[in-house]
Amino acid sequence: MSSGANSFTPALGHAALTPLYDSTIALLTREQRWRGALLRQISPRARDVIVDVGCGTGALALMIKQTAPDATVIGLDPDAGVLARAAKRAQRAGLAIEFQQGFARETDRFADRGVTKVVSSLVFHQVPMDEKRAALAAMRALLQPDGEAHIADYGLQRTPLMRILFGQVQMLDGKTNTTPNAEGILPRLMAEAGFADVSEAEVIATPTGSISLYRANGARS
Ligand SMILES: C[S@@+](CC[C@H](N)C(=O)[O-])C[C@H]1O[C@@H](n2cnc3c(N)ncnc32)[C@H](O)[C@@H]1O
Repeated sequence: MSSGANSFTPALGHAALTPLYDSTIALLTREQRWRGALLRQISPRARDVIVDVGCGTGALALMIKQTAPDATVIGLDPDAGVLARAAKRAQRAGLAIEFQQGFARETDRFADRGVTKVVSSLVFHQVPMDEKRAALAAMRALLQPDGEAHIADYGLQRTPLMRILFGQVQMLDGKTNTTPNAEGILPRLMAEAGFADVSEAEVIATPTGSISLYRANGARS
Protein backbone atom coordinates (compact mmCIF):
# COMPACT_ATOMS: atom_id res chain seq x y z
CA MET A 1 0.00 0.00 0.00
CA SER A 2 1.16 3.54 -0.66
CA SER A 3 1.28 6.61 1.53
CA GLY A 4 2.42 10.17 0.84
CA ALA A 5 1.72 12.46 -2.10
CA ASN A 6 4.34 11.01 -4.43
CA SER A 7 4.01 7.34 -3.64
CA PHE A 8 1.72 4.88 -5.35
CA THR A 9 0.63 1.27 -5.19
CA PRO A 10 2.42 -0.71 -7.93
CA ALA A 11 0.37 -2.64 -10.48
CA LEU A 12 0.16 -5.84 -8.42
CA GLY A 13 0.52 -4.31 -4.97
CA HIS A 14 4.30 -4.81 -4.70
CA ALA A 15 7.00 -3.77 -7.17
CA ALA A 16 8.56 -7.24 -7.09
CA LEU A 17 5.33 -8.72 -8.46
CA THR A 18 5.08 -6.38 -11.49
CA PRO A 19 6.65 -8.95 -13.91
CA LEU A 20 3.69 -11.24 -13.05
CA TYR A 21 1.08 -8.52 -13.63
CA ASP A 22 -0.10 -9.34 -17.15
CA SER A 23 -0.45 -13.09 -16.59
CA THR A 24 -2.15 -12.56 -13.22
CA ILE A 25 -4.71 -10.15 -14.66
CA ALA A 26 -5.41 -12.52 -17.55
CA LEU A 27 -5.94 -15.40 -15.14
CA LEU A 28 -7.83 -13.71 -12.32
CA THR A 29 -10.05 -11.04 -13.90
CA ARG A 30 -11.67 -12.52 -17.04
CA GLU A 31 -9.57 -9.89 -18.75
CA GLN A 32 -10.77 -10.45 -22.33
CA ARG A 33 -14.38 -10.14 -21.19
CA TRP A 34 -14.12 -6.81 -19.35
CA ARG A 35 -11.42 -5.23 -21.54
CA GLY A 36 -13.43 -6.16 -24.63
CA ALA A 37 -16.55 -4.57 -23.13
CA LEU A 38 -14.57 -1.48 -22.12
CA LEU A 39 -13.10 -1.16 -25.60
CA ARG A 40 -16.56 -1.37 -27.15
CA GLN A 41 -17.76 1.29 -24.73
CA ILE A 42 -14.80 3.57 -25.59
CA SER A 43 -15.44 2.92 -29.29
CA PRO A 44 -12.17 4.55 -30.47
CA ARG A 45 -12.33 6.59 -33.68
CA ALA A 46 -9.62 7.90 -35.98
CA ARG A 47 -9.92 11.48 -34.76
CA ASP A 48 -9.94 10.63 -31.07
CA VAL A 49 -7.27 11.84 -28.69
CA ILE A 50 -7.42 9.40 -25.78
CA VAL A 51 -5.59 9.52 -22.46
CA ASP A 52 -5.27 6.24 -20.52
CA VAL A 53 -4.82 7.21 -16.87
CA GLY A 54 -2.76 4.70 -14.88
CA CYS A 55 -1.97 2.83 -18.09
CA GLY A 56 0.28 0.27 -16.39
CA THR A 57 1.82 -2.18 -18.85
CA GLY A 58 -0.25 -0.66 -21.66
CA ALA A 59 -2.80 -3.40 -22.38
CA LEU A 60 -5.73 -1.02 -22.86
CA ALA A 61 -3.72 1.65 -24.69
CA LEU A 62 -2.51 -0.99 -27.16
CA MET A 63 -6.02 -2.31 -27.76
CA ILE A 64 -7.26 1.23 -28.42
CA LYS A 65 -4.46 1.99 -30.86
CA GLN A 66 -4.96 -1.35 -32.65
CA THR A 67 -8.67 -0.58 -33.02
CA ALA A 68 -8.15 2.99 -34.26
CA PRO A 69 -4.61 3.28 -35.65
CA ASP A 70 -5.10 6.95 -36.54
CA ALA A 71 -6.21 7.94 -33.05
CA THR A 72 -3.73 9.65 -30.75
CA VAL A 73 -3.22 7.51 -27.64
CA ILE A 74 -1.37 8.72 -24.55
CA GLY A 75 -0.61 6.58 -21.51
CA LEU A 76 0.06 8.14 -18.10
CA ASP A 77 1.41 6.27 -15.06
CA PRO A 78 3.65 7.21 -12.10
CA ASP A 79 5.62 3.94 -12.26
CA ALA A 80 8.67 4.18 -14.54
CA GLY A 81 9.00 0.37 -14.44
CA VAL A 82 5.56 -0.36 -15.90
CA LEU A 83 5.96 2.46 -18.41
CA ALA A 84 9.15 0.83 -19.72
CA ARG A 85 7.24 -2.44 -20.13
CA ALA A 86 4.38 -0.62 -21.88
CA ALA A 87 6.73 1.19 -24.26
CA LYS A 88 8.53 -2.04 -25.15
CA ARG A 89 5.21 -3.76 -25.76
CA ALA A 90 3.99 -0.96 -28.04
CA GLN A 91 7.27 -0.91 -29.92
CA ARG A 92 7.11 -4.69 -30.51
CA ALA A 93 3.56 -4.30 -31.83
CA GLY A 94 4.62 -1.42 -34.08
CA LEU A 95 2.20 0.99 -32.40
CA ALA A 96 3.02 4.65 -31.87
CA ILE A 97 1.73 5.37 -28.37
CA GLU A 98 3.02 8.20 -26.21
CA PHE A 99 3.79 7.26 -22.60
CA GLN A 100 4.38 9.83 -19.88
CA GLN A 101 5.26 9.45 -16.22
CA GLY A 102 2.81 11.16 -13.88
CA PHE A 103 -0.03 10.80 -11.42
CA ALA A 104 -3.74 10.69 -12.23
CA ARG A 105 -4.18 14.08 -10.53
CA GLU A 106 -1.86 15.49 -13.20
CA THR A 107 -4.01 14.34 -16.11
CA ASP A 108 -4.94 17.97 -16.86
CA ARG A 109 -1.38 18.46 -18.17
CA PHE A 110 -2.90 17.32 -21.49
CA ALA A 111 -5.40 20.19 -21.55
CA ASP A 112 -3.96 21.62 -24.78
CA ARG A 113 -4.03 18.31 -26.65
CA GLY A 114 -7.70 18.30 -27.69
CA VAL A 115 -8.50 15.21 -25.66
CA THR A 116 -11.82 13.63 -26.66
CA LYS A 117 -11.87 10.65 -24.28
CA VAL A 118 -10.23 9.91 -20.98
CA VAL A 119 -10.11 6.29 -19.91
CA SER A 120 -8.80 4.27 -16.99
CA SER A 121 -8.79 0.63 -15.93
CA LEU A 122 -8.13 -0.99 -12.54
CA VAL A 123 -6.56 2.16 -11.10
CA PHE A 124 -9.04 3.85 -8.77
CA HIS A 125 -9.31 0.95 -6.31
CA GLN A 126 -5.58 1.37 -5.66
CA VAL A 127 -5.48 5.08 -4.89
CA PRO A 128 -6.35 7.03 -1.72
CA MET A 129 -9.60 9.00 -1.45
CA ASP A 130 -7.95 12.38 -1.97
CA GLU A 131 -6.24 11.09 -5.13
CA LYS A 132 -9.51 9.56 -6.39
CA ARG A 133 -11.10 13.01 -6.07
CA ALA A 134 -8.12 14.91 -7.49
CA ALA A 135 -7.80 12.44 -10.38
CA LEU A 136 -11.45 12.77 -11.35
CA ALA A 137 -11.25 16.57 -11.13
CA ALA A 138 -8.20 16.59 -13.43
CA MET A 139 -9.85 14.15 -15.86
CA ARG A 140 -12.99 16.27 -15.88
CA ALA A 141 -10.99 19.48 -16.43
CA LEU A 142 -9.42 17.92 -19.50
CA LEU A 143 -12.66 17.28 -21.35
CA GLN A 144 -14.82 19.51 -23.51
CA PRO A 145 -18.59 19.15 -22.95
CA ASP A 146 -18.77 16.52 -25.70
CA GLY A 147 -15.81 14.60 -24.28
CA GLU A 148 -16.24 11.20 -22.65
CA ALA A 149 -14.87 9.35 -19.65
CA HIS A 150 -14.75 5.55 -19.49
CA ILE A 151 -13.57 3.84 -16.34
CA ALA A 152 -13.38 0.12 -15.55
CA ASP A 153 -12.61 -0.88 -12.00
CA TYR A 154 -13.71 -2.98 -9.08
CA GLY A 155 -16.91 -1.25 -8.02
CA LEU A 156 -19.80 -2.03 -5.71
CA GLN A 157 -19.45 -5.66 -4.60
CA ARG A 158 -23.12 -6.56 -4.50
CA THR A 159 -23.15 -10.13 -3.19
CA PRO A 160 -21.44 -11.97 -0.31
CA LEU A 161 -19.55 -14.08 -2.89
CA MET A 162 -18.23 -11.02 -4.73
CA ARG A 163 -17.20 -9.44 -1.42
CA ILE A 164 -15.30 -12.61 -0.45
CA LEU A 165 -13.59 -12.79 -3.85
CA PHE A 166 -12.67 -9.10 -3.69
CA GLY A 167 -10.87 -9.90 -0.42
CA GLN A 168 -8.05 -11.29 -2.59
CA VAL A 169 -7.53 -7.84 -4.12
CA GLN A 170 -7.64 -6.30 -0.66
CA MET A 171 -4.93 -8.68 0.53
CA LEU A 172 -2.63 -7.28 -2.16
CA ASP A 173 -3.67 -3.62 -2.19
CA GLY A 174 -4.83 -3.14 1.41
CA LYS A 175 -8.30 -2.14 2.62
CA THR A 176 -8.02 1.65 2.99
CA ASN A 177 -8.07 2.53 -0.70
CA THR A 178 -10.09 -0.46 -1.92
CA THR A 179 -13.05 -0.39 0.47
CA PRO A 180 -14.65 2.83 -0.88
CA ASN A 181 -14.66 1.24 -4.36
CA ALA A 182 -16.26 -1.93 -3.02
CA GLU A 183 -18.93 0.25 -1.39
CA GLY A 184 -19.70 1.77 -4.78
CA ILE A 185 -18.29 5.25 -4.31
CA LEU A 186 -17.00 5.91 -7.83
CA PRO A 187 -20.20 7.12 -9.55
CA ARG A 188 -20.80 9.58 -6.70
CA LEU A 189 -17.24 10.89 -6.92
CA MET A 190 -17.57 11.23 -10.70
CA ALA A 191 -20.75 13.27 -10.32
CA GLU A 192 -19.14 15.41 -7.59
CA ALA A 193 -16.23 16.09 -9.97
CA GLY A 194 -18.71 17.59 -12.42
CA PHE A 195 -19.10 14.79 -14.93
CA ALA A 196 -22.52 14.58 -16.57
CA ASP A 197 -24.70 11.54 -17.22
CA VAL A 198 -22.66 9.28 -14.97
CA SER A 199 -23.72 5.66 -15.26
CA GLU A 200 -22.59 2.17 -14.37
CA ALA A 201 -23.01 0.65 -17.82
CA GLU A 202 -22.07 -2.94 -16.98
CA VAL A 203 -21.07 -5.14 -14.05
CA ILE A 204 -18.90 -8.17 -14.79
CA ALA A 205 -18.36 -10.92 -12.22
CA THR A 206 -14.75 -12.13 -12.06
CA PRO A 207 -12.79 -14.52 -9.83
CA THR A 208 -11.54 -11.48 -7.87
CA GLY A 209 -14.82 -9.59 -7.45
CA SER A 210 -17.03 -7.67 -9.83
CA ILE A 211 -15.61 -5.11 -12.23
CA SER A 212 -17.89 -2.19 -13.12
CA LEU A 213 -17.76 -0.20 -16.33
CA TYR A 214 -18.61 3.44 -15.75
CA ARG A 215 -19.17 6.10 -18.37
CA ALA A 216 -19.81 9.82 -18.24
CA ASN A 217 -19.78 12.94 -20.37
CA GLY A 218 -17.60 15.97 -19.96
CA ALA A 219 -20.15 18.44 -18.71
CA ARG A 220 -23.59 18.52 -17.18
CA SER A 221 -26.20 18.42 -19.93
C1 LIG B 1 -3.73 -2.56 -11.36
S1 LIG B 1 -2.72 -1.54 -12.36
C2 LIG B 1 -3.73 -1.27 -13.80
C3 LIG B 1 -2.90 -0.99 -15.01
C4 LIG B 1 -3.67 -0.84 -16.31
N1 LIG B 1 -4.52 0.31 -16.31
C5 LIG B 1 -4.45 -2.06 -16.64
O1 LIG B 1 -5.64 -1.97 -16.92
O2 LIG B 1 -3.85 -3.16 -16.67
C6 LIG B 1 -2.82 0.03 -11.57
C7 LIG B 1 -1.90 1.06 -12.17
O3 LIG B 1 -2.20 2.31 -11.57
C8 LIG B 1 -0.99 2.97 -11.37
N2 LIG B 1 -1.20 3.96 -10.32
C9 LIG B 1 -1.13 3.80 -8.98
N3 LIG B 1 -1.38 4.96 -8.36
C10 LIG B 1 -1.63 5.86 -9.34
C11 LIG B 1 -1.95 7.25 -9.34
N4 LIG B 1 -2.06 7.94 -8.20
N5 LIG B 1 -2.13 7.87 -10.52
C12 LIG B 1 -2.03 7.18 -11.69
N6 LIG B 1 -1.72 5.87 -11.74
C13 LIG B 1 -1.53 5.22 -10.58
C14 LIG B 1 0.01 1.90 -11.01
O4 LIG B 1 1.35 2.32 -11.25
C15 LIG B 1 -0.43 0.79 -11.94
O5 LIG B 1 0.27 0.81 -13.16
